[in-house]
Amino acid sequence: MSTILITGGAGFIGSHLVRRFVQHYPHYTIVNLDALTYAGNLENLRDVEHAPNYRFERADIRDPQALADIFNRYQPDGVIHLAAESHVDRSISNPMAFVETNVIGTVNLLNAARNLWGSATEGKRFYHVSTDEVYGSLGEEGFFTEETRYDPRSPYSASKAASDHFVRAYFHTYDLPVVLSNCSNNYGPYHFPEKLIPLMLKNIREEKPLPVYGDGKYTRDWLWVKDHASAIDTIFHKGRKGETYNIGGNNEWKNIDLVEALCDIMDGLLGREPGASRRLITFVKDRPGHDRRYAIDASKLKNELGWQPAIQAEEGFRETAKWYLENEEWLLRVSSGEYQRYYEQQYG
Ligand code: NAD
Ligand code: TYD
Repeated sequence: MSTILITGGAGFIGSHLVRRFVQHYPHYTIVNLDALTYAGNLENLRDVEHAPNYRFERADIRDPQALADIFNRYQPDGVIHLAAESHVDRSISNPMAFVETNVIGTVNLLNAARNLWGSATEGKRFYHVSTDEVYGSLGEEGFFTEETRYDPRSPYSASKAASDHFVRAYFHTYDLPVVLSNCSNNYGPYHFPEKLIPLMLKNIREEKPLPVYGDGKYTRDWLWVKDHASAIDTIFHKGRKGETYNIGGNNEWKNIDLVEALCDIMDGLLGREPGASRRLITFVKDRPGHDRRYAIDASKLKNELGWQPAIQAEEGFRETAKWYLENEEWLLRVSSGEYQRYYEQQYG
């Protein structure tokens, strides 16, 4: 393989993936295709932007002509598709944006790959990055496996589920060489502060209320973002055509326990008196249709392809908290303008 097109490379997970591929695979040309929405930020890739094997193309996956042009110019052998609208709360207030980018944008990209490759698909690969949220909500017990029935319950997860179905349909109907993964919640550096962990770290730092939805006993399975990037790398190179792999860190936290842990880590790092930040916790109105619990069984990926996460939660949360304290300028820049309006609307 020589040229790999990564979509959404200026976002949270995409930027870690682009960095990994640019650094680990100097013989690949990595083309980062991103529209630079509110969630995309080229600053996330400052350290690799001058690498000889890196290219950036500002383009919108909703625009088929722009995709045809880029596919013709670069002739990619592989596509790793991450570009998406990714925040559940935004999907509740504006579902159409999720249909347009996550569903129609994905089909545009499938068409671009199919038009370029035709039936000459030897050595080609279309990798679709998805979420565990397509499986719906778990009770106290059990895990999502690759066989779990789809049951999306938010506009975000419904749009990702629809895109997954299209990717599989292109495999069965046109023999497009696809592979998919469904991953649990990620955390780490460059995470946009609309999501739970960076929003809490930002507010703890600024001594603002920490808005916990509902009773706070909703559970998520948290994975260090660089472990997601290493899993994508493994699946892209070793995964079987047409297969789906679940990715997760076996690291479940109830939201309230997680927020308390972040408070304690930040108190330590900021030299505040123990327990000071916990006093900022404020229970607020619940998210409509809030999924109770997500938990991933990643044994297929571990047993078949030998992937393992590299770090444990406590270390990852501490590293993340330190990163947000050391990168105040990044945080201030991404949370100016549009973010202020969003925050006002969401939290009052
Ligand atoms: P993000 O919101 O941080 O980044 C999304 C990126 O896509 C941004 O750079 C944005 O500019 C770009 N983008 C959005 N719309 C676009 C369009 N129309 N055309 C081109 N580019 C566009 O998202 P993320 O958290 O990094 O998630 C990346 C992918 O991983 C998504 O597909 C998401 O569904 C999936 N995923 C995320 C998580 C998670 O915990 N964040 C977990 C599992 C799967
Ligand atoms: P989020 O980071 O939005 O990820 P997702 O909804 O995709 O899992 O939210 C993680 C959990 O945290 C989810 O149960 C909702 C909850 N949450 C809060 O309690 N308060 C908040 O301000 C946010 C953004 C999320």
